[in-house]
Amino acid sequence: MDFLVVHNVGMPLPRTVEDFAKVFAVVEPEGVEGYVDGAAGHGITLSRNREAWDALELLPRALRGPDDRSTVTTVLGVEEQHPVFVAPVGFQQYVSGDDPTASAQAAADSGARYLQSTFGSASFTELEAIEGLRWWFQLYVFTDEGLNRALVERAIAAGASAIVFTVDLATLGHRDRDIHTGFTLRGARPVPCVADIGHHDPRLAPVWASLDSDISWSTLESLVENSSVPVLVKGVLRSDDAVRCVDSGASGVIVSNHGGRQLDTAVATATALPRVVDALDGAGEVLVDGGIRSGIDVIKALSLGASAVLAGRPALWGLGVAGRDGVSEVLRLLVEDLATSMALVGARSISELTRDLIDGY
Ligand code: FNR
Repeated sequence: MDFLVVHNVGMPLPRTVEDFAKVFAVVEPEGVEGYVDGAAGHGITLSRNREAWDALELLPRALRGPDDRSTVTTVLGVEEQHPVFVAPVGFQQYVSGDDPTASAQAAADSGARYLQSTFGSASFTELEAIEGLRWWFQLYVFTDEGLNRALVERAIAAGASAIVFTVDLATLGHRDRDIHTGFTLRGARPVPCVADIGHHDPRLAPVWASLDSDISWSTLESLVENSSVPVLVKGVLRSDDAVRCVDSGASGVIVSNHGGRQLDTAVATATALPRVVDALDGAGEVLVDGGIRSGIDVIKALSLGASAVLAGRPALWGLGVAGRDGVSEVLRLLVEDLATSMALVGARSISELTRDLIDGY
């Protein structure tokens, strides 16, 4: 029997990612559960993200021994233990109020790269202190250019080895669940990363109000110019945009529709991914997120040409159910399933995950 137990409930940890989702829905207050699991509009993109991965059928290779399997891979020229990264999420403190660093700690425990949101619950100083943490900083751009520059510089000084520029939040999507439950971010703590750089007013309301809703290609170009580490653009769904990102100096893109939380009926990421990969033709790194819930989904994403995936809600389910231990367990389940599924499709290494594994490609 596991000694790890669900927060305050005393039951053993769930055994599957799906069960983490179910327990999360029970242990969290309705508003918090809606904030995490909810989506924009009618939730069409949220569902289609899942359906599109499921619709892809695998063509396993026969008679390939499962020995010497390795999930080690290279992303942005850096070796990674496995290609399952933790997506940037804001306001985790609503899910787990006690330790703002729990997700980052779990990522470090699990050899997973961690993406810290501008609105993440840990500060740069706290991230800097986590031994073994490998992380990137996800930037939302503000109208105050000095603030943008200070965030990027502080993130890099604190150890971020890439900047992830999220471009699909020109304004917040309509989230029906939040409207029904009345969940708001009012009362959130001052934004830790903004407070960390000594900004004169890090309270959420003024910081949020200064988000730049007028971002453009020149925003990306100046970000690339001011960053000493690679810049990835998150929230790209079109091939022409992906090509322009790389032409503007980005090192690659993250194919994402924000987990269906922004524009409802936006294309599923499994549909957009191969088009973006083909358009870039190796000119930039391509990552993907949205609906990744198993190692099989990871195999499909990598076979279509992604170099890594991000998990958003699954990590939050782990966090809500059992804090740091819960996030670690969810990551372990995903990576273990990836290794098992690699054996079953006949792939010994990540480089053997290629398009011929997917029917119709
Ligand atoms: C997000 N996401 C997100 N993305 C981002 O770039 N910055 C952010 O601050 C947030 N915040 C955030 C909060 C919550 C509660 C969720 C669920 C998601 C989007 C996230 O990074 C990722 O794109 C999606 O979550 C991926 O889809 P799945 O894995 O949740 O299906």
